[in-house]
Amino acid sequence: MKKLLITGATGFLGGRAVRFFNEKYDIYAPSHSELDITDEKSVFTLFDSIKPDFVIHSAAISDVGMCEKEPEVSWKINVDGSRNIAAASARLRSKCLLCSSDQVYFGSSIKEAHKEDETVHPANIYGQEKKRAEEECLEANPSCIILRLSWMYDTAALHGKEHSDFFRTLVSRLRSSDALSYPIYDIRGITDVNEVIRNFDKSWELNGGIYNFGSPNDKNTYKTVYAMFSNLGLDTGKLEKNEEAFATNPRNISMCPKKLNDNGIVFSSTLEALIRNGENIF
Ligand SMILES: NC(=O)c1ccc[n+]([C@@H]2O[C@H](COP(=O)([O-])OP(=O)(O)OC[C@H]3O[C@@H](n4cnc5c(N)ncnc54)[C@H](OP(=O)(O)O)[C@@H]3O)[C@@H](O)[C@H]2O)c1
Repeated sequence: MKKLLITGATGFLGGRAVRFFNEKYDIYAPSHSELDITDEKSVFTLFDSIKPDFVIHSAAISDVGMCEKEPEVSWKINVDGSRNIAAASARLRSKCLLCSSDQVYFGSSIKEAHKEDETVHPANIYGQEKKRAEEECLEANPSCIILRLSWMYDTAALHGKEHSDFFRTLVSRLRSSDALSYPIYDIRGITDVNEVIRNFDKSWELNGGIYNFGSPNDKNTYKTVYAMFSNLGLDTGKLEKNEEAFATNPRNISMCPKKLNDNGIVFSSTLEALIRNGENIF
């Protein structure tokens, strides 16, 4: 069996990747206390002892607010830690997938689906860290495959102490009397995490570089949920428009899937996947 090292294995994405790939690969999934990715020496020692064939690097500070509050801490993890993983992968020629984010496009003046070769100037610290990590990782390891992920959700019950997400919050609000309010000035892809993980396994042969890696979506979040509800016969009267969020500077961080599609990897659109998942729940 080939060896697969997964960082961030106690997190939302990494934990699911461990469960998904468990049968197919010999999995190594150190927790944060077993491997601190900011400690370069420990990273190299671990790589030397495991000699992984494949690496999925999902460890990060993924909370945008936390990055704003503690940028020194998050920079060390999101930039320096990622570079350590990319460099160790280069030394052992491990094939390495690194998780970046659609937030690198936040702040762009282009108000349509973004392409990977666009020059970006991210508006928030998290996006700036992801952009810098992309640059430093590619410098340390030109073969590494950088995946710009969009906002992800699952439909299964929450695991342990994990925070809720777009879909599960929607379901619980629909079942209670809570308002379902969604922004009209925000357009972004929203992607089923299980589709992301299935597509990871098709990504090992990609050339080193950056790829948009999530569901395409050309509707704002309110319109997306409205279309989902209409298709599923749910009560659209429960939906409210959030007209405040991003009103002063409308955001479009949706991603163009062409480069990935040209490499044979295709995601369902956000709406297709939401309807498919909704049919199983409602
Ligand atoms: N979730 C999304 O919707 C989304 C969207 C776009 C991109 N992404 C990106 O996708 C990746 C995975 O996101 P996620 O949602 O799974 O994140 P998550 O749930 O916050 O998990 C992050 C993981 O990283 C670990 N970690 C943090 N600092 C570490 C360190 N210094 N050394 C080793 N491990 C460390 C955490 O362990 P502890 O909790 O024990 O510290 C946790 O297991 C991240 O790169 C994120 O930026 C996520």
